[in-house]
Amino acid sequence: MSLLVPIIVALSLSLTVVSGECPGARNNMTMEAACREACAAPPSPATRMYQLCMDTLGEVGTPAGSVEEAGEYAYHATWRALWAYLDTMAMAWHFLGDAAAIAAGEEKAAYAFCVGGRYPEAEAAMERVNWLPGHCGHDVDGEYKRALCDVEACRDRVAKLASSPLIAMVDADYNRTLLAYLLGKVIGVK
Ligand SMILES: *[C@@H]1O[C@H](CO)[C@@H](O)[C@H](O)[C@H]1NC(C)=O
Ligand SMILES: *[C@@H]1O[C@H](CO)[C@@H](O)[C@H](O)[C@H]1NC(C)=O
Repeated sequence: MSLLVPIIVALSLSLTVVSGECPGARNNMTMEAACREACAAPPSPATRMYQLCMDTLGEVGTPAGSVEEAGEYAYHATWRALWAYLDTMAMAWHFLGDAAAIAAGEEKAAYAFCVGGRYPEAEAAMERVNWLPGHCGHDVDGEYKRALCDVEACRDRVAKLASSPLIAMVDADYNRTLLAYLLGKVIGVK
């Protein structure tokens, strides 16, 4: 007995250190409340981001008004951004493989810039974030920012083209990444 107690204490201490759950991950809230909180502060232009938040969290099929752990919302938003990246990359590869669809070398270079570097980087960062809500340490805030920065770099590059079928997708990916970050903040990522 006297031997077991210190062992159990040591075990639970090391578990706490290893998992470092986000402080707000287990807060129970409705998705409306989570979206309101996520979208209350700058930089999110309130109404559009709130709508994206409600649409994204609504995809899970949780009935309106029901309560979930806030960590689940952050987790879902991160996964949703990752899926969106995969769609965008598939589209970019499709255009890269179809010379007739590409207007100019510039367009090709822009897509290659995105799928050949910035998107895989963003994907890797968001995958590292996806330990959420169990692992809040490990520079999660930095990972979100890296993903934002990578998608933004692609968006800025594609936006310089005269026109591109990809710009709306990349723009939406940026918004999804920002939304995931904002929901991360709701559970205490900083
Ligand atoms: C949220 O609800 C779950 C399931 O009912 C419960 O286990 C958890 O302790 C609750 N969290 C808080 C912070 O009250
Ligand atoms: C992304 O968010 C910005 C700012 O809220 C908005 O102007 C833009 O239309 C959004 N893009 C998409 C594709 O939803």
